[in-house]
Amino acid sequence: MPTLNECFSIADLRKLTIKKLPSVMFDYLEGSAEDELTAEWNRNSFSKYEFVPRVLKDVSKIDLSATFQGVKIDLPIVTAPTGMTRMFHWEGEKAVVRATHKAGTAYILSTVATTSIEDVAKESKGPLFFQIYAWHDRKMVYDFIERCKKENYDGLMLAVDLASLGKRERDLRNGHGRPTVLRKNTALSALSKPTWLFNFLTKPKMRMANMVEHLPHGADALKVVDSVNQQFSASVTWEDAKELQKLWGGKFMLKGIQSVEDAILAAEMGATGIILSNHGGRQLDGAPTGLDLLPDVVKAVGPNIEVIVDGGIQRGSDVIKAIALGASSVLIGRAYLYGLAAGGEVGVTRTYDILRDEMTRVMQLIGCSSISELGPQHIKRHV
Ligand SMILES: Cc1cc2nc3c(=O)[nH]c(=O)nc-3n(C[C@H](O)[C@H](O)[C@H](O)COP(=O)(O)O)c2cc1C
Repeated sequence: MPTLNECFSIADLRKLTIKKLPSVMFDYLEGSAEDELTAEWNRNSFSKYEFVPRVLKDVSKIDLSATFQGVKIDLPIVTAPTGMTRMFHWEGEKAVVRATHKAGTAYILSTVATTSIEDVAKESKGPLFFQIYAWHDRKMVYDFIERCKKENYDGLMLAVDLASLGKRERDLRNGHGRPTVLRKNTALSALSKPTWLFNFLTKPKMRMANMVEHLPHGADALKVVDSVNQQFSASVTWEDAKELQKLWGGKFMLKGIQSVEDAILAAEMGATGIILSNHGGRQLDGAPTGLDLLPDVVKAVGPNIEVIVDGGIQRGSDVIKAIALGASSVLIGRAYLYGLAAGGEVGVTRTYDILRDEMTRVMQLIGCSSISELGPQHIKRHV
């Protein structure tokens, strides 16, 4: 089993994660909906493309910088919002935001985070965004928006792919929705992971930190997970999205766009970014991949909206392929969560280091010295 310094790929970090995390937590991190087909398609979508390498070009200096919502970032990679992050390492969001800003890029906090809007802002030294939902309890959503304004967040990202919660069967088997079973299975699976268990028992309790004022039990994460899941609303429409956009009045992205038609509607409502995303395969099994949608969406929406993609990104070459196909940047989810679980802040830094090194090599080997020059000339379908 590699140590953190012996992890040379995201796959190595994943192996270390399996060693360190109780299986119930690993299943929550790794699991997708139903037969997990879409999650597999996400990974495979990148192998449908090959590079068109050009040689004898001066690639001694590589510029990986890009923009995210108009802000310059040193890498074309931003951390996707992920809930319950302290499940994977006791420091959770704080470790991720520190490593992310050290890497020179942007951080997006999830509504269902285990660190609050305010505490993450305190830790932050760079671009900061918040992911919201149009929940049943709209007052709670308005409260999040006000708190983000107060803490000077740089933008909001509305997740639009949760008309209902995906059927994640690993979680169902582990006891999600049945608190007593979940607690028993968590305890049993933690027995063989003493470091995780020690931290879980001795560090501050895991809470749905943004909802402490709104939920029972002081928002204890394991106890309130079901009442939070009931917040997802099946009646959310474009009008709700527009209402939240207006209330915020700043950079506003839609995450979870899965068709060209909806991408056009997002551009028409004046969203500043869309994330082509199937939630890492965790929602609709059978949903298309972001990468497959990307060329048609870029053509359809024009240059006034950032098109960002996520799903299955675990190699620097995946990032470069997405940018060459027209994405302005990408989000990574599991890739940084493996880093976090494997080694906290240092582990997340390892994720960035691995991806930066791989991207730099790919850029040199295809003969392209800056992200802004990457384009369709660098890529074609693999036959
Ligand atoms: C453990 C986990 C928790 C997640 N929580 C959220 C969340 O709270 N809000 C959200 O919009 N997306 C959430 N996502 C989806 C990610 O934002 C992102 O779309 C996805 O992870 C990208 O796929 P990848 O993990 O293959 O990189 C979560 C994903 C994972 C793996």
